[in-house]
Amino acid sequence: MNTIRIAILFAVLSGLAIGAAGATPSLIPKPMKVTAGEGTFQITPETNVLYAAGLADAADYLAGRLSLAFGKPVAARPARGTTVPSGAVLLTAAGADAKLGAEGYSLTVSKNGVSICAAKAPGAFYGAITLLQLAPPAAFRAPAMVEGVLGGKQTVKPPRPCDEPNIAGAKPVGSLAVPCATVVDKPRFQWRGLLIDPARHFWTIDELKQYVDYMAIHKLNSLQIHLTDHQNWCAEIMKYPALTPEKRLNEADPDRVARQTYHKLARHYYTQKELKSLVAFAAKRFVNIVPEFEMPGHSGAFLRGCPQCGCTVGGKQMRGGEVCPGKEKTYQVLQGMLDEMLEVFPSRYIHIGADECGKRNWRKCTDCQKRMRAEGLKDVTQLHGYFVGRMSKYLQGKGRTLVGWDEILESGAKAGAIGMYWRSGRSDNIVKKASANGQYLVMTPTAHCYFDYWQSPDKKSEPQGFGRSVITMKKAYELEPLPDYIKKTNPKLVLGAQANLWGERMKSFPHILYQTYPRACALSEVAWSPPEGRNYAEFHARLLLHLKRLDAAGINYRQPTDIDKPK
Ligand code: ACM
Ligand code: ZN
Repeated sequence: MNTIRIAILFAVLSGLAIGAAGATPSLIPKPMKVTAGEGTFQITPETNVLYAAGLADAADYLAGRLSLAFGKPVAARPARGTTVPSGAVLLTAAGADAKLGAEGYSLTVSKNGVSICAAKAPGAFYGAITLLQLAPPAAFRAPAMVEGVLGGKQTVKPPRPCDEPNIAGAKPVGSLAVPCATVVDKPRFQWRGLLIDPARHFWTIDELKQYVDYMAIHKLNSLQIHLTDHQNWCAEIMKYPALTPEKRLNEADPDRVARQTYHKLARHYYTQKELKSLVAFAAKRFVNIVPEFEMPGHSGAFLRGCPQCGCTVGGKQMRGGEVCPGKEKTYQVLQGMLDEMLEVFPSRYIHIGADECGKRNWRKCTDCQKRMRAEGLKDVTQLHGYFVGRMSKYLQGKGRTLVGWDEILESGAKAGAIGMYWRSGRSDNIVKKASANGQYLVMTPTAHCYFDYWQSPDKKSEPQGFGRSVITMKKAYELEPLPDYIKKTNPKLVLGAQANLWGERMKSFPHILYQTYPRACALSEVAWSPPEGRNYAEFHARLLLHLKRLDAAGINYRQPTDIDKPK
C-alpha cells in the first residue's frame, strides 16, 4: 500500500476526510478552528473521565456515551487538579478563554491525554461532543430505540424507554482511537433549534427524549414543542382538566386515532410529571425546551375545553377556532394555564404562536367590539396586537420573554418580544421594519426550514411530505440567517435559526427522524459554524462520514442520493 492510500485509510478510520486542502476532520457542525496533530490517543474502558466543579453533567454524558460504546460502565469522577493526568480526559475551566463565551471550548487531544477547557458547562458539553466525533463512529453506539424506515417504506415499532439505555444492548468496542488535534470553537448563534408537533401526531415522552438526545449530538440547543392546536391540547393543566379529556380523541376523530394506533395510548397528552422529566433530561444535554401554547388562533382544542373563552354575539356562542380577546375571562384562564406551565418549564422563552389567526368573529363579537372601543383600537389587527401585548407583559412580569410567529410583528409587537420569521417573501417587509425598531428575531423561513416538506423531488421513493414544496439538504444548508439589512445595522438582533417538523403528515417516529436527518445536520452547521468556512461540497463529503455516526446511534435518516451531490 502506498503512503497516500495508508493516509486515506487512516483518515477514514479515524473520522478524518481528506479534502483538497489536506486533512479536514469530518466534524458536524464544523468547528471554528481545527489543527491536526500527530499520533492518536486511545480511549479505553479504563480511561479516567475527570471533571472540575460545575462540569459534572458534561462529564457524565461523555462517560455515559463511552459506557455504551464499550458495553461496560465508565464513571466520571471529580478532578483533583487542573493538569491532565496521563491517560485521562479532563474537563476543566482553568485557563478558559472568556472570549469563547458560555458555549465555547478548546479541546486538546495529545498522545498522553485529553483536555476540554471551557468557562461554563455548555462549552464543556460541546467539547465532549467534538471529542466523541473525533473518535470512530462507534463512539455514538447505542441500542436503536426505533426501527428504521427508508424511502416510502414505513416500519413502525414503538420505542423503548431511553432514560437508562441498556449498556449491553449495543455491540461493544474495546477502545476508541482519537487523532491528536486542537479544536477552538464557539457557536455563531445562541438559538439553534428544532420544532416538533405532538398536537398533530402525538409522540410519547420517550420519543421526545430520544429526539433531544439526537439534537445534542449536533450541538442543537432549543426544542420548541407545539403543545396545542385545533386538533389537540397535549399538556396536563390541573386547573382545567377539560382541556385534556381521556376519550375525546376517540370520539371526535376516529380517523386520527386509527392513524395513531402504533402508540396504543389511552391518552394523548403529557402529564406535568412527564414534562418535568423531559425538561430535566434535556437540561443534562444543554437543550432548552421552549413550550408553545397557541393563542389567540389555532385554539380549537382549547375552546372545546373552555368554550367560555370564545366569541359571542349577544350572549350566543360563535363557531370558530380563535379565543375572544374581548373577554376578561380569556386572559384569566390563559394566564392561569400559563402559571402552571411556568412551574413546569423553566425556559426564559415561552412561545404563544399567534400565527394564522382568523379574525372574522372578532368583527362581530359583542365583547371584541366593546374592547376595541374601550382601548381605541381601530381594527382587528390592532386587537391582535393588544392581545399579544397583554400576554407579553404578563410573561415579562414573571421574568419570561414572549416568542411568537412573525404575525406578532405585523400587529405591532413591542421589541421586548421575539419574532419568529417564517413566511418567506410575504413577511420580509414586516421583518425589515421590525428589525429597524430593534426587534429580536429567530429565522425559520419556509424556504429553507420547513422539514416537514419533501426532501427530494423524486416523490415516489419518499414518505409523505407536506404540500408540494421540496427542501433538499442543499437548500437547508443554503440558509443565511442574517439578512443584509440586519447584518449592516445590528446583527445581534438575529438570535439564531430553527427548523420546523410540523406534524400533520408525520405518522410515525421513524418518519419524523427521516424528515429531520440529514437536513438537521445542515441546519446545525448553519447555526453553529462561521459563515466564511461554509461550503456545501465540503459539507457533503463530511456528511457521508457523519452518517456512520447516525448509523451507530440508531438514528433513522434519509440516505443522500444524486440530487444531494454537489454540482
Ligand atoms: C406556521 O407555520 N404557521 C408558523
Ligand atoms: Zn370576541
